[in-house]
Amino acid sequence: MAINIAIDGPSAAGKSTIAKKLAKKLGYVHLDTGAMYRCTAYKALQKGISLEDEKDVCSMLAKTEIELTSEGKVLLDGADVTMAIRADEISLAASKVSKLVRVREDLVRRQQKMAEAKGYIMDGRDIGTVVLKDAEVKIFMTASPEARAKRRYDQNIANHIPTGDVAEIAEDIRKRDYEDTHRKASPLCKAEDASEIDTSNMTIDEVCCAIEALAQPFLEKENA
Ligand code: DC
Repeated sequence: MAINIAIDGPSAAGKSTIAKKLAKKLGYVHLDTGAMYRCTAYKALQKGISLEDEKDVCSMLAKTEIELTSEGKVLLDGADVTMAIRADEISLAASKVSKLVRVREDLVRRQQKMAEAKGYIMDGRDIGTVVLKDAEVKIFMTASPEARAKRRYDQNIANHIPTGDVAEIAEDIRKRDYEDTHRKASPLCKAEDASEIDTSNMTIDEVCCAIEALAQPFLEKENA
């Protein structure tokens, strides 16, 4: 039977890039849970709903469809928002809605449902600790703040996303790290049984190999 792989860690540590690449290699499905918080924030901002108003954000979310396609597109109520939700403004807004307990409950339920069939590589902040507590492989991915800011900047430029300079992104990352690790509901933290990988000085391929090595014993059983 296929397994689930949970990848958690702070913003811009490389979780999605690695998860996407590894999923392709293993024939697994990548699920970027951050995109779901981003969609929630994006729609709330569009509708003029306060990001702190749990009741209104939740009622909106109950009538919201979020689809993550196998080609890596993010569809919000059927509209392609893949690039729009990457704007720096949405990053901070997503961090705000992710503090709302009932928003988390709704999205966690959706994520758990999707991963029931196994064969998922899910990345986020609470995957190993809440969403997939029983994931066979759990990774806590970190990188230095400097490396993360530089990566996010390069990514924004490559994807033609409006961006601040590296120092501004570093400041945003610092704020989000603080918010993500200090919120009451499921703060970002390493699951006790997760393996920590510091990707600051590693290539994408090296990180993929390290995770594959951890998954190997399970994958061998899957193929036996
Ligand atoms: O991974 P990301 O940068 O796209 O995530 C956007 C925000 O959503 C981030 O600030 C924290 C939040 N998030 C979360 O609280 N739990 C998750 N599983 C994924 C993201």
